[in-house]
Amino acid sequence: MYRDVAESVDAAFHFETGRDLVDRLGYDPDDLEYVPDASIDSFAGVGYHFDLVELEPGEAVLDLGTGSGYAARALSEAAGAGRAIGFDAAPEMARTASARTDDPAVKFVAGDFHDLPFESDSFHHCFSMDAFFFATEPRDVLQELLRVLRPGGTFYCGVNFYQANHHSHEVADRLDPEMLLWSAERYRSAFRTAGFRVAAQSHVPDTDTEIPPADAFPTAEFDTRAEMVERYRKLGTLLTVGVVP
Ligand SMILES: C[S@@+](CC[C@H](N)C(=O)[O-])C[C@H]1O[C@@H](n2cnc3c(N)ncnc32)[C@H](O)[C@@H]1O
Repeated sequence: MYRDVAESVDAAFHFETGRDLVDRLGYDPDDLEYVPDASIDSFAGVGYHFDLVELEPGEAVLDLGTGSGYAARALSEAAGAGRAIGFDAAPEMARTASARTDDPAVKFVAGDFHDLPFESDSFHHCFSMDAFFFATEPRDVLQELLRVLRPGGTFYCGVNFYQANHHSHEVADRLDPEMLLWSAERYRSAFRTAGFRVAAQSHVPDTDTEIPPADAFPTAEFDTRAEMVERYRKLGTLLTVGVVP
């Protein structure tokens, strides 16, 4: 089932092009062969916001629903994590992601985020991009994160599929699993109910996606330039940051 999830999310979500990521991180293109070739989709936007994780060198980070594993690798290589674990329900994702790095600080583990196979208090931070809304029991996922994060640890939860982002809603029709279409407020209240303190919540704009001039519209995805500006520059990724008390 999760294999299907992994394959269908790949098809339905947008991945940043290798070129953009090279430019952003200043990497050699040869080091970024894991980034899928350009695949443009109106839904997810770029959303590679691992750089928002406030990491002290040497800290341990969990990348929940890691997919291709780009964030776990970057959190180690660019941000200096001492240990970065990419976790994903799809074993083939974890295997492919593992084959793309020989960094001893980075590991990929397969499993279900409702039942994390990690010791209590073993991570300083969790980063998750576009994965939390696949939770069937979100309370259980949050409880597990409260357990594996240390006191003072942070959960950076980024989603491009959320209530206010009406541009994203149609993706649910293309995916089999039921997805959580939550509002910003619902994220905050779920985090608080589970026991997190909500330290911040924001709409992080995608400033990398190029927006053509008005006369290029309508496009296949947007009727007007204003709609595209709303999707990428105004709504962007909904980021909720929970802190373990
Ligand atoms: C849209 S992808 C996002 C991947 C990556 N974070 C990114 O930003 O490109 C969602 C990922 O969540 C994973 N996922 C879905 N349900 C999961 C679960 N219950 N436990 C762990 N991972 C899950 C999928 O296998 C998929 O790789």
